[in-house]
Amino acid sequence: MTDANSPSAVAKHKKYLFPAVAMYYQEPIALVRGEGSYVWDDTGKKYLDAFGGVLTVSVGHANPKVVSAIVEQVKKISHTSTLYANGPQGDLAEKLAATTPGNLKKFFFTSSGTEANETAMNAARHATGRMELVVLRHSYSGRSAQTLTACGQHGWKKLPPLVPGIHHAHAPYCYRCPFNLEYPSCGIKCAQDIEELIQTETSGEIAAFMAETIIGSGGFIVPPPGYFEKASAIARKYGGLFISDEVQTAWGRTGEHWWGIQHWDAQPDIMVSAKGMGNGTPVAMTIATPEVADKFPGITFATFGGNPVSMAASLSTMAVIEEENLLQNCKTTGAYLGARFAELKEKHPLIGDARGLGMMQALELVEDRKTKTPAAAATMKVFEETKRRGVLIGKGGVYGNVIRTGLMLNAGKSQVDELVEALDAGLSVAVN
Ligand SMILES: Cc1ncc(COP(=O)(O)O)c(C=O)c1O
Repeated sequence: MTDANSPSAVAKHKKYLFPAVAMYYQEPIALVRGEGSYVWDDTGKKYLDAFGGVLTVSVGHANPKVVSAIVEQVKKISHTSTLYANGPQGDLAEKLAATTPGNLKKFFFTSSGTEANETAMNAARHATGRMELVVLRHSYSGRSAQTLTACGQHGWKKLPPLVPGIHHAHAPYCYRCPFNLEYPSCGIKCAQDIEELIQTETSGEIAAFMAETIIGSGGFIVPPPGYFEKASAIARKYGGLFISDEVQTAWGRTGEHWWGIQHWDAQPDIMVSAKGMGNGTPVAMTIATPEVADKFPGITFATFGGNPVSMAASLSTMAVIEEENLLQNCKTTGAYLGARFAELKEKHPLIGDARGLGMMQALELVEDRKTKTPAAAATMKVFEETKRRGVLIGKGGVYGNVIRTGLMLNAGKSQVDELVEALDAGLSVAVN
């Protein structure tokens, strides 16, 4: 029990945790309570949570329906492992199967996005009998050896590449086009280039092309229309599967659809999600077609796989998304958020690009709109000022100059306005 005289949670974090487990802000905060779109720190200060633990709290902190589902499940049984079936796991798989695109009907539930991506990469290797994978620069895939190797951001991979056979294609980063071209006259060269990468960097036989639907940690990079159609077709031409990493983009966040990839006309063979699925409970999943899943060699096991509490939380999160029509809310409120970010861009020359889909919207800050020099120091200033004003946001991008926001899926215009007001003030302060 912490009293006024004992060291704070922040002090203990600094004293006892690995320094690499870094906290946000010059003066980090400890969160003690959350309700809906808001959280409170241990001094009683209230914040609008416009990042939700990296898009992980979907339907609001302490959502009463999700809390009740968790409590009821804990009272019954809170652990089974994958060695025993449990009701919520089967129910969740059945429910999910009705939302997944194509024939993605087989599930492997685990407890982190890292584990789910690791499973997906291995599943592709087993299903195809090939070893090589094509992934994207600027991406983030997790912190195991294989997923770290797949990461396309130097900041996250302080170990040298550990797993051979993982090749990084150019990102579909229109604002900083790697080929200095413009959409649509570019002919989506970044997707086309995957073919040359396969022909020159690999054996010509790949297991899969794996990509985030929107590159999240890399700064909410939204691929242009036609990108996934072209990229997945090239992967298939060389015998590879298409793995869609929906860790950040699922659960309706991008608006209208359950899954981010549904904004493109491309069908994954394997899909991965985590984060928002359990409204903050540790949960993840790898979904595959039966053809792929059936080739995953056994036996395999996950201690916390299909954990009944996480499964119950995920089921009730999905129920709230349905009952409150949140796919639609993300579309309409997300469009309002996008329009307000466009207004901010008009007003503040510091903003080089405003981009996103639905309730996944970002601002990329630059020192100069012509040179596009990343404005990392200004980004930090915006970060501190918005916090001072009681709004928590995220940051990202290889150059540390992207402000990422992830309001709750059930946030409304008032939360959007609150966020925009704080950003407006932060951006004004940042240029001084
Ligand atoms: C797109 C993506 N994939 C995978 C991961 C890894 O997930 P986790 O941190 O749950 O291991 C993340 C985490 O941020 C992510 O954003």
